[in-house]
This record gives sequence, C-alpha cells and structure tokens, in this order.
Amino acid sequence: MDPLAQVGKDLKANPRRWLVTGSAGFIGSHLVETLLGFGQHVTSLDNFATGHRANLDEVRRSVGDAAWARHTFIEGDIADLATCRKACEGAEFVLHQAALGSVPRSLADPIASNRANVDGFLDMLVAARDAGVRRFVYAASSSTYGDHPGLPKVEDQIGKPLSPYAVTKYVNELYADVFARAYGFESIGLRYFNVFGARQDPEGAYAAVIPRWVRSLLVGEQVVINGDGETSRDFCYIANAVQANLLAATATDPAAVNQVYNVAAHARTTLNELFAMLRDLLGERFPAIAGAQASHGAFRAGDVRHSLADISKAGRLIGYRPTHAVSEGLREAIGWYVARFGTQQGKTHAAQAHA
Ligand SMILES: NC(=O)c1ccc[n+]([C@@H]2O[C@H](COP(=O)([O-])OP(=O)(O)OC[C@H]3O[C@@H](n4cnc5c(N)ncnc54)[C@H](O)[C@@H]3O)[C@@H](O)[C@H]2O)c1
Repeated sequence: MDPLAQVGKDLKANPRRWLVTGSAGFIGSHLVETLLGFGQHVTSLDNFATGHRANLDEVRRSVGDAAWARHTFIEGDIADLATCRKACEGAEFVLHQAALGSVPRSLADPIASNRANVDGFLDMLVAARDAGVRRFVYAASSSTYGDHPGLPKVEDQIGKPLSPYAVTKYVNELYADVFARAYGFESIGLRYFNVFGARQDPEGAYAAVIPRWVRSLLVGEQVVINGDGETSRDFCYIANAVQANLLAATATDPAAVNQVYNVAAHARTTLNELFAMLRDLLGERFPAIAGAQASHGAFRAGDVRHSLADISKAGRLIGYRPTHAVSEGLREAIGWYVARFGTQQGKTHAAQAHA
C-alpha cells in the first residue's frame, strides 16, 4: 500500500482535528481536500493574498457537502496573533503553508515577504505552542540551500541564501529549532522542491514555471525560457508533498521530530526537457501545440542553477516514498489547465486553421 493510503486508513479509524494555513492556495487546498477525504475535522485559514476562493469551492465540489461540513474556514492574516490563536483552538496538528512564495516577489518587496513569512510564522508558532498543538508541520523551502554547490542536496549542508525569500524560509527553520529546545515544541519542516499540480496559480508575474508555460502553450503565447534551458530542477508532484505532510504529522519515531526533510522526487529535469514534456503532452490533445518552440531570455536573478534532492532522510525517518514521477504528475495535472484554458486553445487552433 502506498504510504498516503496507509496514513489515510489509520486516520479514518481515528479522526483528528487539523489546522491548515494557506488553504486557498495550491498546496494548502490539496491538504484540506485529502484530510476531508480521510474523514478528518479541518479548520483552515487564508487571507487570499495569493490564494483564491475558487480553490476552496473546487475542494468543496470534490469532497461533497457531507465532508465539507467537517471544515471551518477563517479568513484572516497570519501576521495577526489573535487570528492565529483563534485558528489554533482545538487543533492537534497544524500544517502551516501560508506564506508569500516566489523568489522574484521577495526581491521586489522584501518587507511584504518578511511580514507574512517571518512575522506570520512566529505568530503561528506562538499560537500553536500556547494552544497545546501536538505537532506543527511547516512549509520550508529548497531555496535554503542557497549557493551551496553540492548535488544532490542533503539537509545538513546549506549555503548562503540568494534571496529575501530564502532568508525567510531559513528563519522559519531557526525559529522552529529554538522552539523545540526552549519550549519542547514539536515541529517538522518540509523543504519543498518545485511542487506542481492542479490549482497551482498560472496567472500573474510570479507564477511558477509549470503553470505559466502550460497556460502560455494553451493560449498561444510565446514560452520564454530564462537562460539556456539547462538549468535543472527536482519537480515534485503535489501528491508526494501531501504524503510528506501527513507522514510528518503522524510520525511516532522520536528521532523523526524536530527535523527538516527534503520533499522532492529525486529526479533532475532541465527546463528544456520540461518544455518538451509539456509541449508533447499538450500536443496529444491539441495538434497545433505539438510544433511549439520556446525562445530564450536572460537568466533570472536569485535563481540557483541546479537543484536535486537527496530524499533518503525522509524515506528513513518518516517513510516518505514518492508515488509520482514528474511525467506521471504532469499527465495527472494537465487536465485541470486544459479545462481552464483549453477552449482558448480551441479558438487559437481554429483561427490558425482559417488563416
Ligand atoms: N509550490 C512550491 O513549489 C513551493 C516550494 C517551496 C516552498 N513552498 C511553500 O509552500 C507553501 C505553499 O505554497 P503554494 O505553492 O501553495 O503557494 P500559494 O501562493 O498557492 O499558497 C499560499 C497561500 O497562503 C496564503 N497567504 C499568504 N500570506 C498570508 C497571510 N499573511 N495570512 C494568511 N494567508 C496567507 C495565500 O493567500 C495563499 O492562499 C508556502 O509557504 C511556500 O513558500 C512552495
């Protein structure tokens, strides 16, 4: 049985109370969906800074009204301690996802990123500690590896941060560590490596590469690859990230707690390879896309050149076993984007046929 299904079976037999922050966003909405599907009681919190009500509506449709009745949504800001305290009331487990993502966003506005990602994080820690939360699992980031040249990345070897975003995520780890030593507070940090899947926002200047390119291909816009395209990433499908969260929350081995773990697929994909995969996948449905070509722009400030995770620590201590390779994840996720933009592609296709 895959690890997520096993955790689900255990949780169904013994429902718990959870708080998910950032629930209107990409990863948070999947956590809420999975937990409700497993019969859990879920409170969730978001201020819609980058998340969307439509994501929650979609979760509601997916789990059905009976499961949705076990969910309470709080609209609020994690940079407000009273809001965090209200959200943490009665929670046994916290899955803290709320933050302002994106390296370029943090370069453009470091104060906003610090407020959500550092002030907000500390508020959540204090509120969770005071509410007697049993375990606090939080979204850390592969950006914490910074300029360390080692590959694959192992958890205890990090370099200097390359962006304000990376600083904020490293500060999260430092605070979590101090809360363990000073207050005996249990937490686990998950260093996500380029998570992707349905509901990852394709819009806006700070969209991640996969949703941005899928949208561009579907609406007939030029895809621009930053740099020569040989930059590589360890893309991680959302199902793997959800699995890591639930394993981290429920791990019983004391050695597993107060640690950080890489969450990835342990496979390196270059941007050129990624573009070809997306083009071929969409080309199966829309022949006009099969011949699409990307152009190349400047390298992006603050980006690391290569990223590949060693995931053996998560395997050893929390039983993490990714179930989806990049290609499998892309195939599963693509339908969501096609449903959203596919009609525009149909129009583009028709227009090209008549040209
Ligand atoms: N997606 C990735 O590849 C990736 C990689 C590394 C780390 N992370 C981290 O994972 C977490 C989730 O990322 P995501 O990809 O789902 O992004 P997302 O933007 O889709 O979700 C983040 C959510 O947090 C909410 N939020 C932001 N500031 C808030 C605040 N002050 N108060 C309350 N809610 C707030 C947003 O409205 C949004 O719904 C973030 O902490 C991010 O830094 C993501």
